[in-house]
Amino acid sequence: MHHKNSEKTFMSYQLLKGKRGIVFGALNSESIAWKIAERAVEEGATLTLTNTLVAMRMGETQNLADKLNTITIPADATNVDDLNNLFIQSMDFLGGKIDFVLHSIGMSPNVRKERHYSDLDYNYLNKTLDVSAISFHKMLQTARKLDAINEWGSVVALSYVAAQRTFYGYNDMADAKALLESVARSFGYIYGRERRVRVNTVSQSPTLTTAGSGIKGFDRLLDFAERMSPLGNASAEECADYCITLFSDLTRKVTMQNLFNDGGFSNMGMSLRALQQYEKGLQINSDKDTPPQKHIFD
Ligand SMILES: NC(=O)c1ccc[n+]([C@@H]2O[C@H](COP(=O)([O-])OP(=O)(O)OC[C@H]3O[C@@H](n4cnc5c(N)ncnc54)[C@H](O)[C@@H]3O)[C@@H](O)[C@H]2O)c1
Repeated sequence: MHHKNSEKTFMSYQLLKGKRGIVFGALNSESIAWKIAERAVEEGATLTLTNTLVAMRMGETQNLADKLNTITIPADATNVDDLNNLFIQSMDFLGGKIDFVLHSIGMSPNVRKERHYSDLDYNYLNKTLDVSAISFHKMLQTARKLDAINEWGSVVALSYVAAQRTFYGYNDMADAKALLESVARSFGYIYGRERRVRVNTVSQSPTLTTAGSGIKGFDRLLDFAERMSPLGNASAEECADYCITLFSDLTRKVTMQNLFNDGGFSNMGMSLRALQQYEKGLQINSDKDTPPQKHIFD
């Protein structure tokens, strides 16, 4: 089986042959989870799809399920009863315990409502942390209590480098990602020791999706990261390829890690391409001789 990916044609390696998975967060065809689900099935997996009821009504999750010959099971990832039901129904439909789970969930009401980081609404912050990070703990705890994941199973959540470094506009999602990565370590220890289940986060380049475009100045962030990364930004398809390796048996001793799929961005300081673009901006400013503008919230 082949699938076209921009200029290259990739083979299917059947890396997930016979494996059963659950994929959270496929909202529409731009979603990173969407690409991962498609890629996982190409690699021989069977899986169920899940998202919130509201997202399923707005989004196109059912279309993907039809295409992949599977079912959608609604679950709010912050609701433990929903998660319990999701794992039970998934094992029932797929005919056995689960081998891999993808957590691809992020949402901040503070970002949505443009609350500045120095003026957060704390109810919103609780929601950000619950949806974007604590849901990962809830998912892992539920799976473990049900003993729903096979030995050498693999759980991956998607993260962003703002967990380590400060990015303008990323707001309270930075704190959520820091917590998410910490949960991967803390639960990875317990789940690894007891059941040989591995838990990792993949820190992905900025990617044009519904969640991504909610971030302030996202188009410029995308351009900046592209110029800074020696290999360029990683696309959603490339994130899918990487996640497949983590779900496969080829990475059985990889756990408790935050793994960067970012074209090298996270280890860069300054690149020639970014510097050249910055110089152009400086020339324009000196030509116009405009007084510096005051941005209180920048
Ligand atoms: N797009 C980027 O630039 C980028 C970069 C790095 C990491 N990520 C991460 O990738 C993941 C997926 O985001 P995406 O960019 O594909 O955007 P997306 O908007 O397609 O996906 C976000 C998903 O979260 C789901 N969701 C929100 N609240 C939920 C809840 N309570 N329960 C269950 N699901 C819920 C949404 O319905 C949606 O499907 C997120 O964790 C995001 O932070 C994105």
